[in-house]
Amino acid sequence: MTRSVDEITGGKRLRRMRKADWSRRLVRENDLTVNELIWPIFLIDGDDRTETIEAMPGVERLTVDRAVRAAEEAAKLGIPAIATFPNIAVDKRDTTGSHALDDDNLINRATRAIKAAVPEIGIITDAALDPFTDHGHDGVLRDGIIVNDESVEQIVKAAVSQAAAGADIIAPSDMMDGRIGAIRDALDDAGFQDVAIMSYATKFASAYYGPYREAIGTAGLLKGDKKTYYIDPGNTEEALRETEADLDEGADMVMVKPGLPYLDICRRVKETFQVPTFAYQVSGEYAMIEAAAANGWIDGEKVMMETLLSFKRAGCDGILTYFAPRVARLLQG
Ligand code: PBG
Repeated sequence: MTRSVDEITGGKRLRRMRKADWSRRLVRENDLTVNELIWPIFLIDGDDRTETIEAMPGVERLTVDRAVRAAEEAAKLGIPAIATFPNIAVDKRDTTGSHALDDDNLINRATRAIKAAVPEIGIITDAALDPFTDHGHDGVLRDGIIVNDESVEQIVKAAVSQAAAGADIIAPSDMMDGRIGAIRDALDDAGFQDVAIMSYATKFASAYYGPYREAIGTAGLLKGDKKTYYIDPGNTEEALRETEADLDEGADMVMVKPGLPYLDICRRVKETFQVPTFAYQVSGEYAMIEAAAANGWIDGEKVMMETLLSFKRAGCDGILTYFAPRVARLLQG
């Protein structure tokens, strides 16, 4: 004898709450708001100029004055923070990334200009050396090896210089051992106790960073890969140990990068440590959505929103996303 649906479900009908927009909204567990958005922007030298980035349609490199306008727009939209990434002139790049230490480099000039014009927005700067090295690595290259401790010394100095320029959060993306504790010590010694650290705690050796390397001009320079310092994509436990180490060293917030292919890591990090957890929806993730949308294969706007919501569901407190202003405008209605 076949059973009726009520006999099978015992009268439980999960579709009841899905029947109308109002009831779906009422029982929705996760929502995306503008408060979760961090907008990464790319910087170039010059005045009143932008450059397109082929692999990132809709994203541009901005001169400092344009970056100030972008920050003004972001603040108006309610986006809490921006993250800056510079495309440094090739003749300023060297083996040790020494220009990262220059108080007047592109990152620091942008920070000062944005702070002066838009004091209400948070500024996150990356202390990694890759925009400044002539080999595209995040650290100092000696005899084919990215040397850890000398890299940390450089990164620490870059971090202090960024804090002095007015950065609110230092976000080192280099994965060198010991850099969080070293940055914390140096910031405190220099009187920057209130400058926070967002650690790129679990940064994977990923193929999703391709378009970013075009954006900051490291694609043609990079020799070899970053597997000796980024985490192997197969490793969860190592990602947790790395997060624990960075928290012990003084990280205020941690990040998982890339985002979507590593949502399981976001969930594990959040559940294990209960600390402010962020994901970076990286350039390759952005490019994939844009490419499919441009071909008419997906509804880009809907996929953008659904993808960003998945980060909330996975436990993230916020997302670095190139979509930030578009999302904010959409949320504003
Ligand atoms: C390197 C760095 C990377 C990104 C930001 N800083 C990765 C890399 O070039 O290896 C990637 C961001 C993105 O892909 O959007 N310190």
